Amino acid sequence: MSEVLVIGGAGYIGSHVVKDLLAAGFKVKVYDNLSTGHKCNLFKEAEFVKGDILDFATLDKAMSDVSAVVFLAAKKAVGESMENPAKYALNNINGTVNVLNAMSKNNVKAIVFSSSAAVYGNPQYIPIDENHPLNPLNFYGFTKVETERMLEWYDRLKGIKYASLRYFNAAGYDEAGDIKGKDENPQNLLPIVMSAAMGERPYLEVFGTDYDTEDGTCIRDYIHVSDLAKAHVLAVKKLLAGSSSMTLNLGTGKGTSVKEVIRAFEKVLKIKLPVKYASRRPGDPDKLYASNEEAFKQLGWRPQYLDIEDIVRTFAAVYMK
Ligand code: UFG
Repeated sequence: MSEVLVIGGAGYIGSHVVKDLLAAGFKVKVYDNLSTGHKCNLFKEAEFVKGDILDFATLDKAMSDVSAVVFLAAKKAVGESMENPAKYALNNINGTVNVLNAMSKNNVKAIVFSSSAAVYGNPQYIPIDENHPLNPLNFYGFTKVETERMLEWYDRLKGIKYASLRYFNAAGYDEAGDIKGKDENPQNLLPIVMSAAMGERPYLEVFGTDYDTEDGTCIRDYIHVSDLAKAHVLAVKKLLAGSSSMTLNLGTGKGTSVKEVIRAFEKVLKIKLPVKYASRRPGDPDKLYASNEEAFKQLGWRPQYLDIEDIVRTFAAVYMK
């Protein structure tokens, strides 16, 4: 059976991908520097190499007998990327160069890459499809666009086939409870709501109630992490079967407002959340949701979690333990 190297496999999305690759029968090797990934997210069935993507020698060695790479390791805090672009350039861009060069050197011809809806910037139309212009509003999104361009060139020049997966708002946790480590990313709405629910913060701020949406709050496309993981497995299989490269949105195609997220938490947890209505956060588009037709066409992928309450339930289960 082919071996897949999952770079960032101890992280939030990576650990879910590892679980599904193992379930699909792949041999899996995890490569992670454990900067944000957790040891408790590692599966004993997968080999583990502690290493950084900036360390070419270790990466090169780890790549020696693999058939495909799933590349998730990256810095991902949008705000931080604007304050410290050097960190993002180094990890997300130089790191990618190392991964692609190590692949070339070891003759690895397939890569599944974690891209983001942040590549699009302010939507010119919704649902956003893959042909929407790329106009990132932050440096994080820029690093994803640049990586996608690099993938195109390594495809043309080195014959490395890629699947670039543009995630919308990743959310939730493995329903079976096999992934124990929490994503330490308090900037995102769901973890913030959860911490307010647990009394770790006095209240939750809603950034803007005067948007051009039905209830005035921003609309996003929350996609369950197990649905994301399934798409990675399908993409690995398709690339290993000789497919050409592809760029795909991964979202539900359905929008959920901030107020709807809050209501879902209140219903699932049976509590009343302390909410403060605040002004808009700069750079937030009012509505953002995906067209996921291309992922269906290319991979036969359809998300299973379409109800925000179900996503919240799997999320809360990990935090309430
Ligand atoms: N929000 C609040 N209060 C908070 C935090 C967030 O009201 O305390 C609102 C935001 O204004 C936004 C929505 O909740 O309307 C979602 O915000 P997130 O920060 O969770 O997510 P974003 O949509 O801003 O960004 C996320 C990822 C990015 C990715 C993008 C792609 O964080 O990495 O989705 O669509 F690029």
